[in-house]
Amino acid sequence: MLRIVVLVSGGGTNLQAVIDAVSSGRITNTEIAGVISNNKSAYALTRARQHGIPAECISPKDFGTREEFNSVFLEKIKELCPDLLVLAGFLVVIPAAMVEEYRNRIINIHPSLIPSFCGTGYYGLKVHEAALARGVKLTGATVHFVDEGTDTGPILLQKAVEVKSGDTPETLQRRVMEEAEWKILPQAIDLIANGKVRVENGAAVIES
Ligand code: GAR
Repeated sequence: MLRIVVLVSGGGTNLQAVIDAVSSGRITNTEIAGVISNNKSAYALTRARQHGIPAECISPKDFGTREEFNSVFLEKIKELCPDLLVLAGFLVVIPAAMVEEYRNRIINIHPSLIPSFCGTGYYGLKVHEAALARGVKLTGATVHFVDEGTDTGPILLQKAVEVKSGDTPETLQRRVMEEAEWKILPQAIDLIANGKVRVENGAAVIES
């Protein structure tokens, strides 16, 4: 059984997609050991509790320094003994010590086709605003492993989504979630849970 801990900051629709996929058997061999949010009013925490998943908040705002937060955050994660950390709309930078401790065992969902519209400052609706401003006709979502950079780790899965005329950031965000994010995040977890993924020379390789 792969023990996963899901890290969230907001509404938690990707968390919901993971919970539903575990329930329906689209994700196999996986147990959601806990959900952690940096934001105590995140609806994602309610979603977790409704499904009996231990959920708690740890916020940098409650600590004097970022170093203090980082070390308590890492200890809290370690207590949950995860095999895989899943960043599902988590907007806090992962401390370098955590990347080191969980090398190739942290994945993130990003709402664009990396390397477009990613890196510092590109999160949530801002990604879709930038895609519309550039006038791209295709966008999508990416699941990648997390390394020390922002959205720079090995790419595991990507799915393209059409931009339609008249799209607003909100309509585009919704289509990218429905057609891409809620599919490839569960798919990535299932692949990892079933030993189908390895990282080799900085690239993610999927065994067929
Ligand atoms: C999702 O679109 C996710 O891809 C994005 O935040 C949203 C969270 O929604 N993540 C990032 O932008 C990370 N750079 P959710 O809370 O409903 O899953």
